Amino acid sequence: MTTTREIHLASRPSGWPVPANFRTVTVELPEPGPGQVLVRNTAISVDPYMRGRMNDVTSYVAPFALDAPLGGGAVGEVVASSSDNVTVGDTVLHQLGWREHALLDDSAARVVDTDIAPASAYLGALGMPGMTAYVGLTRIAQLKEGDTVFVSGAAGAVGSMAGQLARQLGAAKVIGSAGSREKVAWLEEIGFDVAFDYHDGPVRRQLKEHGPVDVYFDNVGGEHLEGAITHMADFGRIACCGAISSYNDEQPSPGPRNLAIITSKRLTIRGFIVSDHGEAAGEFYRTVGPWLADGRITTRETWAEGLDQAVEAFLDLHRGGNTGKMLVRLGS
Ligand SMILES: NC(=O)c1ccc[n+]([C@@H]2O[C@H](COP(=O)([O-])OP(=O)(O)OC[C@H]3O[C@@H](n4cnc5c(N)ncnc54)[C@H](OP(=O)(O)O)[C@@H]3O)[C@@H](O)[C@H]2O)c1
Repeated sequence: MTTTREIHLASRPSGWPVPANFRTVTVELPEPGPGQVLVRNTAISVDPYMRGRMNDVTSYVAPFALDAPLGGGAVGEVVASSSDNVTVGDTVLHQLGWREHALLDDSAARVVDTDIAPASAYLGALGMPGMTAYVGLTRIAQLKEGDTVFVSGAAGAVGSMAGQLARQLGAAKVIGSAGSREKVAWLEEIGFDVAFDYHDGPVRRQLKEHGPVDVYFDNVGGEHLEGAITHMADFGRIACCGAISSYNDEQPSPGPRNLAIITSKRLTIRGFIVSDHGEAAGEFYRTVGPWLADGRITTRETWAEGLDQAVEAFLDLHRGGNTGKMLVRLGS
């Protein structure tokens, strides 16, 4: 019997996930039925939203089931096909990550062009995180030429794209916050005008000399959101992309204490989920693809090696172990 491995959710985390919440399971390698393809995954994505799916709560996406494989973005090579549309050797993007092989209907596998960018880019800069940055700036924050933009989580997959895209889209000044001196140095290298380590002091204090801020792209929530609200310009716009500082909290954390400023400064604060904005996909690829190709936008990836490291990579993402997109390499 030929086998393959996948990672299951063994129990629901309370607070920070621990390795015991996950189980690696060996299963028989399936064969594709009519219209299906078998994919050998070469890279799987670990993303912060997966933490929310581990909770048994109603949200914009269903929770992961217990004792079943986790899912998420992955790219790989088609190794068997009973499809007329996808052939053996194609590189595809799909949503059955956290496993070495994926059996898919061909409609769930998108063939990607590895001449334009390496397969892993479709999980990062040219994939969901890049598109999140683009949607957040263009559709939610309605970035205008000359804006001062502040991005938190700026050295991560979404944040590093948000800051660089803001610059390309006409921002006059781009400010970023991140969790280490090395990340701050990288942000300055890739074109942020100012970057600071949020461990060096309260965000409210560190942001003071760089504001007022027209657009805040919020990946972090909590103290970052409170600090940004204080330094927003009149009529500023805040795109609430995520609140990673609270994802592993056991109790809800207190909200910003300065919400009255929303009224006095006439702010717009709007949350969004990238999957609601499929209409932006074509524009995103047409706009951002060439910027990546000509080097106007640079990216980094942080790789973990092998399925056995996937859980650790997911935990490390929440500890700030990544610069740019966090990925797990499976085979080559
Ligand atoms: N709305 C949507 O549709 C959508 C789509 C994708 C992602 N998101 C959200 O976007 C955000 C970034 O996602 P991503 O995939 O790009 O992840 P990422 O930024 O690549 O990785 C997560 C980063 O969060 C930072 N972090 C962790 N705890 C923190 C804390 N307490 N305070 C400040 N920073 C902290 C860490 O960097 P440091 O070293 O800087 O702490 C870590 O590297 C997340 O909030 C995610 O949920 C939203």
